[in-house]
Amino acid sequence: MSKTMNNIGVLTSGGDAPGMNAAIRAVVRSCSFYGVSAFGIYEGYKGMIENQITELDARSVKSILQRGGTILKSSRSPDFKTVKGRKTAYENLKKNDINGLVLIGGDGTFTGAKIFSKEFDIPVMGVPGTIDNDLFGTDYTIGFDTATNVVVECIDKIRDTAESHNRLFFVEVMGRDSGAIALRTAVASGALDVVLPEETAPLEDLFAELVKGEANQKTNKIVIVAEGNAIGSSLEIAEKVKAKFPHIESKVTILGHLQRGGPPSCADRVLASRLGVAAVEALLKGESGLMVGLINDQISYLPFAEAINGKTRLNEELLRISKVLSV
Ligand code: F6P
Repeated sequence: MSKTMNNIGVLTSGGDAPGMNAAIRAVVRSCSFYGVSAFGIYEGYKGMIENQITELDARSVKSILQRGGTILKSSRSPDFKTVKGRKTAYENLKKNDINGLVLIGGDGTFTGAKIFSKEFDIPVMGVPGTIDNDLFGTDYTIGFDTATNVVVECIDKIRDTAESHNRLFFVEVMGRDSGAIALRTAVASGALDVVLPEETAPLEDLFAELVKGEANQKTNKIVIVAEGNAIGSSLEIAEKVKAKFPHIESKVTILGHLQRGGPPSCADRVLASRLGVAAVEALLKGESGLMVGLINDQISYLPFAEAINGKTRLNEELLRISKVLSV
């Protein structure tokens, strides 16, 4: 065990994700298990700069395993992007005797962590928490499973109206740069088509799918649109489809932040618990500058730079079978 590691700080940063609380709990309880003090840093990097830091014990994190959001609150901090902001943050950690950090968040969080851990001598471990599933070095990020379950539940409901009224529905899902939510839920909900940020397929491809769907008398006419795709928002796409096929009645549903809320799924609770424990154990072994992930159901570690810059690839098999199954 590292000699100086006796006070570990934990924070959540970036967009909240279901399962972040389970990860906080895992960090705090592992600290308790190993006889180390844990400190909650509120509102992400902003709270580090503003010294919003409180000691937490094993009981402080009771009954949060099943709750969505994050009890530590979250933010995206512009001040942490400045040298002055990071210096103030470091001084606050020193004031509180914090000598290790676990940061739970996405690529923005780890970009800050990479710079911070180079500038200052505080060991840092990252835990991937984002519904987007867009980090290299882990098969799944915390929150992705829950978000996709929410999307599928919503689409099952939308489908009732789509079929009853013979309407085409465009359902817009999150994922600024990543089509992971869109593609997975397209397969799970039997969508007619899916529009992804990673693909540069022209609108004509979607038109062709609609024509084929009509010819094949498909009653399920759900098209999933990932935000951030190259063609446009779901509303813009719906307008273009209306102009081309005036006889098709279409509606748009933007699921928005519904996807980020609610109790975490069993899979997310287990993932968050495993990654939280692994992050603390790594710090205690003297590791730093790494994101802990899960690859083929095994704990793995990757430097922040690789987790951020490594290219997550679209699941080609899911893409292929989504086309096969929407025949
Ligand atoms: O990164 C998570 C995410 O939910 C993205 O999918 C989405 O584009 C973005 O955050 C929305 O951010 P905000 O809640 O700040 O609008």
